[in-house]
Amino acid sequence: MVNYKDLGLVNTREMFKRAVAGGYAIPAFNFNTMEQMQAIVMAAVETKSPVIMQVSKGARNYANGTILRNLAKGAVEYAKELGCEHPEIVLHLDHGDTFELCKECIDNGFSSVMIDGSHLPYEENIALAKKVVDYAHQFDVTVEAELGVLAGVEDEVSAAESHYTKPEEVIDFSTRTGCDSLAISIGTSHGAHKFTPEQCTLVNGVLVPPPLAFDILHEIEKKLPGFPIVLHGSSSVPMDEVNTINQYGGHLEAAIGIPEEQLREASKSAVCKINIDSDSRLAMTAAIRKHLAEHPGDFDPRQYLKPARENMKKMYIHKIVNVLGSDGKLAQC
Ligand code: G3H
Ligand code: 13P
Ligand code: ZN
Repeated sequence: MVNYKDLGLVNTREMFKRAVAGGYAIPAFNFNTMEQMQAIVMAAVETKSPVIMQVSKGARNYANGTILRNLAKGAVEYAKELGCEHPEIVLHLDHGDTFELCKECIDNGFSSVMIDGSHLPYEENIALAKKVVDYAHQFDVTVEAELGVLAGVEDEVSAAESHYTKPEEVIDFSTRTGCDSLAISIGTSHGAHKFTPEQCTLVNGVLVPPPLAFDILHEIEKKLPGFPIVLHGSSSVPMDEVNTINQYGGHLEAAIGIPEEQLREASKSAVCKINIDSDSRLAMTAAIRKHLAEHPGDFDPRQYLKPARENMKKMYIHKIVNVLGSDGKLAQC
């Protein structure tokens, strides 16, 4: 058994309380590689922001759970080395799909887990989430559960169509599961292709997607005052990164994300955790493609991973400062 507290990690409880009260959101960045971890830590330290580093099942398959946990341990030590005496770093399991996977992560240093039973019938979702909560809380590990189904398809996370969260279910669900935060579906979705061009409106040459269902979010807030709400699928899919990828040999068509103004608005509400993965993938790929196109003789991975890391760090800082508003929000610096 590895307890997260021995690794210097924290759970989400206190940071969510402050984020809901303060009208900002904590960034939840997925990571699969050392370069992503370094970029996340550098951005969090420079902006004095709490941060959630999250690991999907796919990330565990790619990089190995033990290695990722040790990267998170290294992240705490690296943050201190960079001058942050009291970093607030959460190691979170993203989209855990079974009790066994959640337990394995809780037993191996994770400070927070998501149990995603959103595709299950309502009562089964409750039973599974409650089982995870009952286990996790013995070790002071916090649990995110999900109600409502996001649209979109991504490696391990797929749902053909979206079903918005029903506000009339949230009190019963959160009370009976005992979950610490609730992921909801209000129109976001996973991946870089969140909307088809047909779903969007052309404004000044830019495709603008339909707005998020803020009416549903506000109804949920009324039913659960102060309860931490989570938004998945919140990449904005920046056009400059997509254009760079396409300019240097990539082929990304109709890549459309969630406009940042909408995420800024959501951050001011009870939404206190915003998940971003695809934007990091785009920032990394754009920088690597550009570097290799401009330096065709380079073959040392450090030559192209360094600009990739820089580009991700820039993106993370932008999200923290200009979209989520979590900069300067560490309890102690
Ligand atoms: O929500 C899904 C995350 O973007 C993780 O994606 O399963 O491809 O690692 P992944
Ligand atoms: P994006 O694909 O929009 O980055 O969403 C990531 C996510 O929700 C991880 O759980
Ligand atoms: Zn997700």
